[in-house]
Amino acid sequence: FDRQDGRLQRQRLLVVANRLPVSAVRKGEDSWNLEVSVGGLVSALLGVNEFEANWIGWAGVNVTDEIGQRSLTEALAEKRCIPVFLDQELVHQYYNGYCNNILWPLFHYLPLPQEDRLATTRSFQSQFAAYKEANQMFADVVNEHYQAGDVVWCHDYHLMFLPKCLKEYNSEMKVGWFLHTPFPSSEIHRTLPSRSELLRAVLAADLVGFHTYDYARHFVSACTRILGLEGTPEGVEDQGKLTRVAAFPIGIDSDRFIRALELPAVKYHIKELQERFAGRKVMLGVDRLDMIKGIPQKILAFEKFLEENPDWRDKVVLLQIAVPTRTDVPEYQKLTCQVHEIVGRINGRFGTLTAVPIHHLDRSLDFPALCALYAVTDVALVTSLRDGMNLVSYEFVACQASKKGVLILSEFAGAAQSLGAGAILVNPWNITELASSIGYALTMSANEREKRHQHNFLHVTTHTSQEWAETFVSELNDTVVEAQLRTRH
Ligand code: G6P
Repeated sequence: FDRQDGRLQRQRLLVVANRLPVSAVRKGEDSWNLEVSVGGLVSALLGVNEFEANWIGWAGVNVTDEIGQRSLTEALAEKRCIPVFLDQELVHQYYNGYCNNILWPLFHYLPLPQEDRLATTRSFQSQFAAYKEANQMFADVVNEHYQAGDVVWCHDYHLMFLPKCLKEYNSEMKVGWFLHTPFPSSEIHRTLPSRSELLRAVLAADLVGFHTYDYARHFVSACTRILGLEGTPEGVEDQGKLTRVAAFPIGIDSDRFIRALELPAVKYHIKELQERFAGRKVMLGVDRLDMIKGIPQKILAFEKFLEENPDWRDKVVLLQIAVPTRTDVPEYQKLTCQVHEIVGRINGRFGTLTAVPIHHLDRSLDFPALCALYAVTDVALVTSLRDGMNLVSYEFVACQASKKGVLILSEFAGAAQSLGAGAILVNPWNITELASSIGYALTMSANEREKRHQHNFLHVTTHTSQEWAETFVSELNDTVVEAQLRTRH
């Protein structure tokens, strides 16, 4: 809080992310339907009273006319959101191309595209140019709305260039950047043609944050090995200028999930699900349909389990919620076909006239239905091949106070570092190990389940998203004060 004119003023936070937490659908020339999505970041900042959060991001729609842009800007202002308008071609090159076809896979240890090298190189260059252009457009909007004393918090791999653009506008701006994905080993990052430019752009921030200590360490190694800079326990130093680098593991608003279980709508769903699956154990997967989530590996392991354990075939069901995502990117289209093919084969192989072993849904669920599903689940399967943190694992734990179900969790998800002692950790590439973990989880004693659950529940309810946001912003404020003191001495 700052004291001004004898009144307490909340510090203004400009949260800059590729996507606004509101999706817009046009209803008429100047009317819009806005739907707020309460994702991790939104709920984190809702619970923090010290800041007044304002959002800057892409509205997710193509609006080229002036009336549309003006009316959408006005409608979003009521939700404290400020849109950045990106045209379709830029979205194609920046979002589908550089962000989701290059950076996203690479940061999850999937190598750069290898077919047709010449075409790839050409499109790579134009996509990187679009990436920088889009980042500059975000910076223009931030600069237009910035007021002295604001904290600017940039999010994720879409906006690695933003800290540099912002500091070029105003070197006094307090700028933090947080990465929601893994930061890969420096040996992976160094394959990226624009490796140095990206690192230098991020280093313009005052504070750089990651989910885990390992990701922070990889980033510092990339800066020392690729840029030849000095890594210190505090961060990275370049000619006397220190960029602070640290780990800030995200959490969830656990109370929101715990409270939801008391809502009549959720209780109704729970009862319905219990009746529907009476006599069968429920296994659950909830993922965006993304190659990093290891969905084929999970389903193949389930098939192996059924193959090896005929007695279980009519006693267990796998519910896989696969939320469609980035559907314009060819790799995601291929994955959808692949998953459908495997699910169809397994249901054909082990299904009966009255039941199938896998219920696969290509859509998201609303909040009450999702909470109910978490609550009735016996075993949750999070099998990401790599994942920054994975908050599905946290949400599941928050909803399991009475059932105390088992969490099977990939050791390659950031969450393995916080929920590792309570979960069964697996290597998702090892289908045999995954299949036997399913057997172990389904037959685990109540005593062991209870102990494991207590460990995870305590973590999830203590290290919340609110705590995460407060820690990051106060660290950013402190970092800037310390840097000012250092330059004065
Ligand atoms: C990941 C990223 C987020 C992104 C989300 C959904 O969690 O870290 O930045 O918003 O996926 O992806 P989308 O491409 O639909 O925004």
